[in-house]
Amino acid sequence: MTTLVTYFSASGVTKGVAEKVANALDADIFEIAPETPYTTADLDYMDKTSRSTIEMKRIKKINKIKAYYCF
Ligand SMILES: Cc1cc2nc3c(=O)[nH]c(=O)nc-3n(C[C@H](O)[C@H](O)[C@H](O)COP(=O)(O)O)c2cc1C
Repeated sequence: MTTLVTYFSASGVTKGVAEKVANALDADIFEIAPETPYTTADLDYMDKTSRSTIEMKRIKKINKIKAYYCF
């Protein structure tokens, strides 16, 4: 059986964790990447006009998610 670790990482933190997990499991690894990479300004969650804030609002609307938690 082959194991595949897939991940999405905007800032690179999750990428590092995914690589460690893939190494530990001797698994294949696949990055889910946005068509247009996120810039630092895009990831300013405090800015109500930033790309990440706008996209998150859209995702919440589509999925009817009542709250978004980040751990
Ligand atoms: C569209 C978008 C919106 C996000 N909104 C938030 C947010 O509101 N609060 C937060 O702490 N992180 C937010 N994030 C960061 C993600 O939680 C984070 O990118 C994800 O856990 C992957 O971690 P990494 O990019 O540090 O590797 C957002 C990321 C994206 C792409």
